[in-house]
Amino acid sequence: MRKRILTGITTTGTPHIGNYLGAIKPALELVAPDNDSYFFLADYHALIKQTNPTEIEASVKNVALAWLSSGLDPSKSHFYRQSDIPEVHELTWILNCSAAKGLLNRAHAYKAIVAENTQSGSDEDKAVNMGLFSYPVLMAADILIFSATHVPVGPDQAQHMEMARDIAGKFNHAYSNILTLPEAIIQNDISVPGNDGRKMSKSYNNIIPFLSTEKALQKSIAKIITNSLEPGQPKDHAACTLFQLYSFFATDDQIEAMKQAYKEGISWGDVKKDLFNIINNEILPIREKYFELKEQKDFLNDLFSDGAHKVRPQAQELIGKLREAVGISNIV
Ligand code: TRP
Repeated sequence: MRKRILTGITTTGTPHIGNYLGAIKPALELVAPDNDSYFFLADYHALIKQTNPTEIEASVKNVALAWLSSGLDPSKSHFYRQSDIPEVHELTWILNCSAAKGLLNRAHAYKAIVAENTQSGSDEDKAVNMGLFSYPVLMAADILIFSATHVPVGPDQAQHMEMARDIAGKFNHAYSNILTLPEAIIQNDISVPGNDGRKMSKSYNNIIPFLSTEKALQKSIAKIITNSLEPGQPKDHAACTLFQLYSFFATDDQIEAMKQAYKEGISWGDVKKDLFNIINNEILPIREKYFELKEQKDFLNDLFSDGAHKVRPQAQELIGKLREAVGISNIV
């Protein structure tokens, strides 16, 4: 059977080098002629945490353009917005009625907030909206609506995948075997360091930009903290942020050569220059494409409309079957 690979991209913020290496690149590597691939922008998921409409819109645009510039080819993959497939919400309700509340009580994002609230002596559900609580059900609907067989996700989503299977299994057992139980493809949690050495994250303010100018990339690399060893003094590559970042972009031979250069006392200035060049070489065409697409008015709107047009009939067909299975259809 053909694999149907599907993954959702939450539209928050602007992608950085960490997102590129950890999510975009590995997901696009799974696109192959003998698979069907579905990539969608999980824009309704973004509402859980973001209440600023301008930010929501900007994120959808930046995230979509980042993926497209990085090589997502809409003629080879299905690419659409979650919000353009209203059947997802109809399925969410149906699944809500199969999902045990106790199952969702155990979801780690929800549990973490409850634990924090309890510790600080607040009401345990303080700042918890129903979107956050039932997030895994919407995610299950995203997957099940297109009968995905394989879902590449980060390790933090493994639990949500188990929940999707659990909920689908309950539905199938109660009605009939309509929903496909998806398999998770857990992608390596590669930890890309930011320019302060901690994990790269917008919330640490340590990101290395991906789609901004060459100057911004240079500046961000210049800020990376090193020790005060002088040129000529041997340096240790292990646990060095510059070296780690370099390794993500370099070939095995280049990595070996860089290790040798550390031993021989390469200057920090030269390591930074090499790091800039290797990153810039890889992302230059992506950046150029991004700036080009960004200027094309209606490009994204047309693309989203085509994407939805291609996939929505499948969603409608599945919903038709489900309605019939649960007894909500023509009266005979
Ligand atoms: N929850 C996923 C994340 O934060 C994004 C997502 C939403 C998703 N719906 C999905 C991923 C469906 C895979 C399949 O990474």
